[in-house]
Order: sequence, then structure tokens, then C-alpha cells
Amino acid sequence: MDAKKIQKIVVLGTGGTIAGTAASASDHTGYTAGQLGVQHLLHAVPGLSDALQGDALVCEQLAQLDSKDMDHATWQALAQRCTHWLAQSDVGGIVITHGTDTLEETAWFLQQVLDSPKPVVLTCAMRPASALTPDGPQNLLDAMAVVRDPMAHGVLAVCAGRIHSARDVQKVHPYRLDAFSSGDAGPLGWVEQGQVRWAYPCQSAEQHPHAQRALNQSAAGWPWVAVLLSHAGADARQVSALVAAGVKGLVVAGTGNGTVHHHLLNALAQAQTQGMAVRLTTRCAEGQLVGQPAALQTAPGGLNACKARVSLMLDLMG
Ligand code: SIN
Repeated sequence: MDAKKIQKIVVLGTGGTIAGTAASASDHTGYTAGQLGVQHLLHAVPGLSDALQGDALVCEQLAQLDSKDMDHATWQALAQRCTHWLAQSDVGGIVITHGTDTLEETAWFLQQVLDSPKPVVLTCAMRPASALTPDGPQNLLDAMAVVRDPMAHGVLAVCAGRIHSARDVQKVHPYRLDAFSSGDAGPLGWVEQGQVRWAYPCQSAEQHPHAQRALNQSAAGWPWVAVLLSHAGADARQVSALVAAGVKGLVVAGTGNGTVHHHLLNALAQAQTQGMAVRLTTRCAEGQLVGQPAALQTAPGGLNACKARVSLMLDLMG
């Protein structure tokens, strides 16, 4: 299918390995993320102007982070810039360069707060820009193909030739280039030789009822929601310490089909009875909870724990 006619694609840089550099080209792990500007990354993509077919790029360096350090203020600034650009009639979509480590959380946050049918495509790299064969330039080129595709909508992630939805994407590998999976759902599509092949239609952004608060209310005041993991030897003091410290919501990644160590379960159920918002997910990498496994409220939509944390935080903004 021919790419749609658009005038501008906005590229927002946030850092990550895609913008990382190491002292040696053979070093894939001992690098510093977030060193090169987004303009520099674009210049390193061979064939980019051919792929754009006359469309213009507008670049902004929104942040320069290792995404393990992603914070709510940066999310808010990112969502505000996306909202600004998506409202311009001559902007066809946005590409965001991002670290892989929290990409899925940023993607889900944006999917919940943006309100536009236009695509927002996050892309990344597993090898720094200084590597002998960096994966960032190809991922960026693929992201351009996706953002220009007329079937692209909502917030998407593109890595290693695969297109993932914000809802399903999850980092599943700490090193290999194809580090992301959409689990049971499978990828939304693929980018092959610059062409997009869809397996499923994309979903537009799913704006949360409290999205405006996330866009406008000081990020310092967003409700504190923590994630807990149920594991052998779990200790209820984790729950009481968090409650005493003022946590507003708790997401627990349970074992298997949402079972929770009895020490934690008792403390969580008690906190829930006292009004604490508690959401249950599974720590399994794939699948979602089936039925109502525990005395705790299940997180909606089969979200993983980190995405359930984002949704609960938005719920609590009410
Ligand atoms: C990061 O998430 O910023 C560093 C790791 C990566 O991008 O792969």
C-alpha cells in the first residue's frame, strides 16, 4: 500500500542505548546511554531521505536519559509535546527514540493519555550507536515506515522489524537485538524491506478519563503507586512499610495465576479493606490471570505489573 501524503513527522529524542556510546566499537554493555542528540541519530540512518519521500522531519530533544531513570515529569513533558504536535494538521505522526528498559511503560502511559488517531511510534536499540553494527539506524528507519503507513494508529513500538502495540509490548530479553515480545497476542505486524505488513489492525489511543490531569497536574503530585512481587519468603513488612510511608496504591505481581504468598496476601487484603487501592497481576512473562484468583482486585486487561501501575496511578488521579 502507498504511504499516505503527510508533510511533517516529528521525532522526539529521549535518550536510551540508541543514543548511547562506548569507548570501543566491540563494547555492547559498558556504554553510557543517552549521549547523542536525536539529530545525530537521524544523520546516521542511510536512505532516510528516500524513505521519507519528501516528508519533512522536525526534531526535538525532549530528554537525554537512560530509561531506567524515566520519571513522571519527563512523561508529562513528553505527553504535552505529543499533544501539541498531534494537534497540528500538517503533522502526520511522531517517532520517539527511547531506551528499551522502560519503553513499554512510556508506551502504555502515552496510549492512556493521548487523544489522537495519528500514530506515535517508539523505537530504540539494544546496541549503542558506537557499536560495529548498531541496530538503532535500522529501527529508526523501520519506525519511519510505520509512522508514515496509513494503517498506523495509536501508540506503537518498533524494534527488530516487529511492530508491537502499547498494550502488549514487553521487554523480554536483556541482550539480544529482538528484545521485545507481545506475548500471546503476537506482534501487530512487521517491517520488511521498508514495507509494513500488518497482522492485525492497530487500536487508536485509549484515553483514560483522568488524562487531562496527567497532562496538567504537577507530576510531583501524582499518586505514589508501588509494585510488589510475591516470592518465596515474602515478608508482610514490605506492605506495612509502604503503607506507613504514604503509598496510595499497590500493584502485586503474584505467582502463576495470581496466587500470593500468605504473608503478603494477609497484609494486602487488610490494606485493601482499609481503603488502599490494590491490583493483582501475574509475574509470569506471558498470559494473563484467568478467573478471580485471590481476594485482591485484578488489574484490568491483562496488563503486566508495570503497566498496571501506570493505569492505577491514573485511576487514583481522580
Ligand atoms: C535504556 O533503557 O535507556 C538503556 C537500555 C537500552 O536502551 O537498551
